[in-house]
Amino acid sequence: MTQAEIKSTNDLFEPKIIVFACNWCSYAGADLAGVSRLQYPTNIRIVRVMCSGRVDPAFVLKAFLKGADGVMVAGCHPGDCHYLEGNLRAEERMNKMVEALKTLGWEIDRFRLEWISASEGKRFAQIMTDFTKKIRELGPIRIKND
Ligand code: FES
Repeated sequence: MTQAEIKSTNDLFEPKIIVFACNWCSYAGADLAGVSRLQYPTNIRIVRVMCSGRVDPAFVLKAFLKGADGVMVAGCHPGDCHYLEGNLRAEERMNKMVEALKTLGWEIDRFRLEWISASEGKRFAQIMTDFTKKIRELGPIRIKND
């Protein structure tokens, strides 16, 4: 990137993004993106979980507290969860977490819940690209410890 192309300090910012991806759909979607040689930002760090329903909101909060600028939970589309309703439970829990964080004035755009199937490698790459762009616009996370 040349000096002229740098418009703000956020252009130099490389966000850390944690993606909790369910083994059966979203992780397989990431794998397909890789095998298909689809490009997506290297800012993504995937944590494989057996089901999105395994992700406790405390995992998301801990990721933020440990320095993640963005966090995503990705699972199977509704009706496709290998544990029947794990993704629906994840959605319910994450919605409650989002509501709680909103009341605390959190930049809630730093969190996303997405459904990505094993056959959606292209969609996986697109979502990761979009989310990274959004987090880059928001800039580094600042958490007050007082
Ligand atoms: S197994 Fe993928 S969300 Fe439950």
